[in-house]
Amino acid sequence: MTDAAVHELDWANDYDIFSRPFVQDPYPIMAALRAHDPVAHTERWGGSWLPTRYEDIQAIAHDVEHFSSIEIAVAPIPATYDEHGNRRRSVIASDPPEHTPERRILLPVFSPKAVERYAEGTRALCHRFIDEFIADGRVDAAERYARQLPPRIIARILGIDPERADDFTEWVQGVLELGLTDPELREKYRLLINDFFREEIERRKTEPGDDLISWLLSQEIDGEPLGMHIVEANVSLMLIAGIDTTWSSIGSALWHLATHPDDTAKLVADPGLLPVAIEEFLRAYSPVTMARIVRQEVTVGGRTMQPGDRVLLAFPSANRDPEVFENPDEVDIERQHNRHIAFGAGIHRCAGSNLARMEMRIAIETWLERIPRFRLADPDAVTWSGGQVRGPRHLPVVFD
Ligand code: HEM
Repeated sequence: MTDAAVHELDWANDYDIFSRPFVQDPYPIMAALRAHDPVAHTERWGGSWLPTRYEDIQAIAHDVEHFSSIEIAVAPIPATYDEHGNRRRSVIASDPPEHTPERRILLPVFSPKAVERYAEGTRALCHRFIDEFIADGRVDAAERYARQLPPRIIARILGIDPERADDFTEWVQGVLELGLTDPELREKYRLLINDFFREEIERRKTEPGDDLISWLLSQEIDGEPLGMHIVEANVSLMLIAGIDTTWSSIGSALWHLATHPDDTAKLVADPGLLPVAIEEFLRAYSPVTMARIVRQEVTVGGRTMQPGDRVLLAFPSANRDPEVFENPDEVDIERQHNRHIAFGAGIHRCAGSNLARMEMRIAIETWLERIPRFRLADPDAVTWSGGQVRGPRHLPVVFD
């Protein structure tokens, strides 16, 4: 889309992040907004602001005084309460002071050392998926590869049955993707997740294991065990935060490699380049956009926001800002200066980033070992999710 076309659609005053052009290819739209209207606004989907410059997005993510995480969905989602009237909130939807001790409890579970425990299992799973389709010479790499890994890894961490991976992914898509624009659907899947984990939590109370649910049940804040509404919300968050995101980022990396054979050849010849390439994929195809609610009047990029306004944190746009990244629309798998914020910034920066990086590295490394040459079967058959998390949902590829 050209600059002119972007303006014809009045993206500055009437953007629609769920519209087809934005979901298919948001980058030219973001670039035009960044250059001409760096803080866009819309009345759609409950109304929101869309800052597109790195500097503004970074500043908002750090400014917990003016911006609350009480609602972090990119479209309005009503808060939910348990039967005692406690708001169900996980660490990602908490502000200080509650946020600080809850995050501290989660971090050790996702330290680089802790996630390395899952590396060999991750590699074995990648081989198992590839064994299932390699003889066919074709596969939907989003559906049968990228999508398969994250729910099984998070299931192991939570101590739940990894073979229910398809259910978990369906529930998360119901909440985070399809349910964003369909409140009834979202509620249905939220309840499914909640009921499932209630039972799991009850079981751990009498039969604790070496898993994240048991860990949360054993923790205290100020001498008190965590409230059940907090345990439930954080356990659900692990599915919601860990599945669509990593599925999308593995899928986007494979989409890039399927369409850029030179980069694929380079990585096959020198797998040592992979960690740097992964950071570039995270920058260029950042999957996650979050939201904040304004607490007190504040001005960003010359636009004044009122308490209660929703502001989108478009990390994908920040990561393509030419003020920070040289040739931002060029994907350079050897890019040296890459301070991307695909995992967010400030107090809510992704707690699972070590796990996500490990899964991405092993998924791509194993794929390239077994399938060193591949290409899109049909570019028109590729579909993308958009909204809160962007990534390929169908990615048919062929290989020799
Ligand atoms: C490539 C994959 C991933 C990406 C791009 C990603 C991105 C993000 C982003 C942007 C945030 C910041 C939210 C905000 O500022 O409101 C976040 C937070 C979070 N992520 Fe991830 N994430 C990924 C994978 C994971 C995984 C695998 C897990 C673990 C299961 C995870 C767990 C979390 C948690 C717990 C938070 C909340 C941290 C807090 O509020 O203190 N994420 N993630």
